[in-house]
Amino acid sequence: MENIIRRVGYNWATLALFMAFAMSIATQLYVANASDPSPLQDFCVEAHHFNSGAYVNGKYCKNEDAVTTNDFVFKGFDQPGDTNNTQGAKATLIDINKFAAVNTLGVSIARVDFGPYGLNTPHFHPLGSEIFAVLEGTLYAGFVTTKNKLYDTVLKKGDIIVFPQGLLHFQLNLDDTDAFAIATFGSQNPGRINIADGVFGTPILDEVLTKAFQVNEKAIEQLRAQFSTDNVSDDNPRKSILKLLSQVSR
Ligand SMILES: *[C@@H]1O[C@H](CO)[C@@H](O)[C@H](O)[C@H]1NC(C)=O
Ligand SMILES: *[C@@H]1O[C@H](CO)[C@@H](O)[C@H](O)[C@H]1NC(C)=O
Repeated sequence: MENIIRRVGYNWATLALFMAFAMSIATQLYVANASDPSPLQDFCVEAHHFNSGAYVNGKYCKNEDAVTTNDFVFKGFDQPGDTNNTQGAKATLIDINKFAAVNTLGVSIARVDFGPYGLNTPHFHPLGSEIFAVLEGTLYAGFVTTKNKLYDTVLKKGDIIVFPQGLLHFQLNLDDTDAFAIATFGSQNPGRINIADGVFGTPILDEVLTKAFQVNEKAIEQLRAQFSTDNVSDDNPRKSILKLLSQVSR
């Protein structure tokens, strides 16, 4: 009897262990699939025009016979970005658009240069998570979750932080000297949307922005003036609800 109980107990323990193992595998598979899909071949250096017949997720592969070591090497990453802009910082992303070799591999890299007190403006990467390493300087950095919770901290030289895919994040140089960081992404094309430019640099109707931000048109115009590249004039007036409606009803 005691033997049977011990046996049953042993089997339950085995089952529990197996379940835990299966769940951890499932979790890992999920993580592995949380970003770019896995490649189906060693590499697929992007061909800038069709020449091989292979077509992988939006980009053609260069014929393997024509691929050389040089295709896998990018030069000039040591060149600092120009931080002489209103934000005092410059992020230079080396993704599929600049480096054909990363095609299908689910990776890309950026250098972020900060002038004194420079800001890498609040932004998010819709298509990839980021690991951000501070190599010079002291930065205030943080990100905001889908529950509007802020995780923020001060990062020093040698510190690394993770910015999860799609979450709003930023870094501000706290010193009067330059700062420098390298960021890597789990996507060949993480994408980048700056909040300020996306909201105030596009011709979204005033009616949307005044209601969203609960301020009057004057405040919105003030913000637009900083980011908008629209050419709004008397000859070329801003879009309006009335104008849009008149186009729809025709
Ligand atoms: C920074 O840019 C402004 C205009 O954009 C220019 O007038 C100024 O000379 C630049 N400063 C340096 C140090 O390049
Ligand atoms: C803006 O619009 C005005 C009048 O419509 C035109 O003269 C001017 O060249 C435009 N500027 C740009 C940068 O497109």
